[in-house]
Amino acid sequence: MDMHPDLEQVLFSRERIAARVAELGRQISDDYRNGNLLLVGVLKGAVVFLADLMRAITIPHRFDFIRASSYGKGTTSSGYVMLSGQIEHHLADYDVLIVEGIVDTGRTIEALTREFTRSGARSLEVCSFLMKKRARAVPVVCRYLGYEVPDRFVVGYGLDYDERYRHLDCVGILRREVYEL
Ligand code: PRP
Repeated sequence: MDMHPDLEQVLFSRERIAARVAELGRQISDDYRNGNLLLVGVLKGAVVFLADLMRAITIPHRFDFIRASSYGKGTTSSGYVMLSGQIEHHLADYDVLIVEGIVDTGRTIEALTREFTRSGARSLEVCSFLMKKRARAVPVVCRYLGYEVPDRFVVGYGLDYDERYRHLDCVGILRREVYEL
């Protein structure tokens, strides 16, 4: 398929993404085979990754969602993370795996870690599809990681710019002309 005209470069094709997600699913299935796994997807960026990951996990598990938002319409984090939505599960009964689309400053994971620790999660780990190679405001330990990406604005596979491009089946770097007017 042709590259979307707003992309400067494709970083990960649909095929590469599928292969990596399958590996992550195998690893998680193995590590949690004696646990009580609850995936908590971070809306909205993680929705596509979560849908693929859960089907790559072969052990019984549940999933839930939380909404975290910090970027608004811009391309840089506002520094404030707004959490909303209600987790339906009683976290103290579960080995919680936060499923994130991308880790950038680390503030979203920091806010979620604080929230889920307060809720008494039995164990807590992070699985992010992407992580930016950059100095992070907050250090993040990502037990499961799809890929590292350069410190550029990336879209696709759930990730957006102003709510666009989430549906792209690849991950690519957005052309600067699209957001620098
Ligand atoms: C994006 C992304 C992550 C977060 C990562 O969410 O999906 O959740 O930012 O950035 P951080 O490590 O600097 O906190 P965004 O606020 O854009 O909301 P969205 O997921 O609905 O697009």
